[in-house]
Amino acid sequence: NVDKIAILPGDGIGPEVTREAVKILQTLSEIDSTFQMETKEFNWNSDYYLEHGRMMPEDGLDQLKDFDAILFGAIGDYRVPDSVTIWNLILPIRKHFQQYVNFRPVKLLRGMESPLKQDNPIDFVIIRENSEGEYTDSGGNMFHGETREMAIQNTVMTRQGITQIAEFAYQYAREHGLTKVTNATKSNVVVHAMSFWDRMVEEIADKNKDIAYEKYYIDALAAYFVQRPKSFEVVLASNLFGDILSDLGSAIVGGLGLAPSGNINPSGEFPSMFEAVHGSAPDIAGKGIANPMAQIWSAALMLEHLGRRDLHDAVLTAMEEVLEEKKVLTPDIGGTASTVEIGDVIAGKLKKI
Ligand code: NAI
Ligand code: MG
Repeated sequence: NVDKIAILPGDGIGPEVTREAVKILQTLSEIDSTFQMETKEFNWNSDYYLEHGRMMPEDGLDQLKDFDAILFGAIGDYRVPDSVTIWNLILPIRKHFQQYVNFRPVKLLRGMESPLKQDNPIDFVIIRENSEGEYTDSGGNMFHGETREMAIQNTVMTRQGITQIAEFAYQYAREHGLTKVTNATKSNVVVHAMSFWDRMVEEIADKNKDIAYEKYYIDALAAYFVQRPKSFEVVLASNLFGDILSDLGSAIVGGLGLAPSGNINPSGEFPSMFEAVHGSAPDIAGKGIANPMAQIWSAALMLEHLGRRDLHDAVLTAMEEVLEEKKVLTPDIGGTASTVEIGDVIAGKLKKI
């Protein structure tokens, strides 16, 4: 079967790093005849917006729906407000395709040094609820007379929303031979929403008693990420907590140049979307020095999602060889190589594996 992949390069360094990720996918399809793909590129970015007054065509989501997966670069350009690019392209895709899992590996690759001076392995995943929770537009900004102002932002937690993300976390743990799920909470203070979150999560934990369950308040957990990151395997978090923990996670394993992510629709009814965590990096766009490893790793996550864990593992092994040799690295991790050179050297390694 042929995997149909939609490519949305976006703005800034998005196209630069995505080109290298596609190069790696092409290399894999050349060396492994059982992996066949068909790609189609969509130019929905800030240029498109300035020309058409919208981030994607009216039937854009319809055009994407029959793909097996989406590889997304990054979006953001000084000529268009960030709220426009994000709310009219990324969020509609995540929402419409029910990508309720935000999946982020926190893994210190061989050859990388953590700023925490930890040896390998730091190797866990953050599974963040991606569709509700703290990030809803429920609430408002109210004025009371002349001197008092207030705003209310509601958190929306549903049984279905929490249950499905918790089930995904346990299923992931099981499929990967992991032994523990850590719940990030704040039910001591956020008494309504987070107590409900805990109760729903613990219903699922009770059905998976062979996998250990632990729960920490988010503030303490942030400290443990720094003090003992090796002790985590699967970290389950709400939308807001997962967002914050993810950036902390990327910082302890080498920064944005090495932070991949997936927005996953577990049922497979709709395409899932894979993207580096970083943005369009306007400060280095056009210079050809962006690190494409985060996007190449995101493409690897896509391969795993498409049923090819073997290809995912091969890509990571190739990246680790490059990192261990320390000869061809981009400036963000201490080298002088270009974006294209990184793609080439990883492709070269894959041909030898
Ligand atoms: P950013 O991630 O684009 O850049 C932050 C810093 O990290 C910059 O100094 C940049 O040069 C560096 N950096 C990022 N990726 C890198 C890479 N692959 N290699 C080497 N260095 C890298 O975040 P920033 O500056 O806050 O946002 C820039 C634009 O990107 C904004 O318009 C923002 O809205 C957008 N953005 C888009 C995202 C998306 O498309 N999902 C996510 C985050 C931001
Ligand atoms: Mg974030």
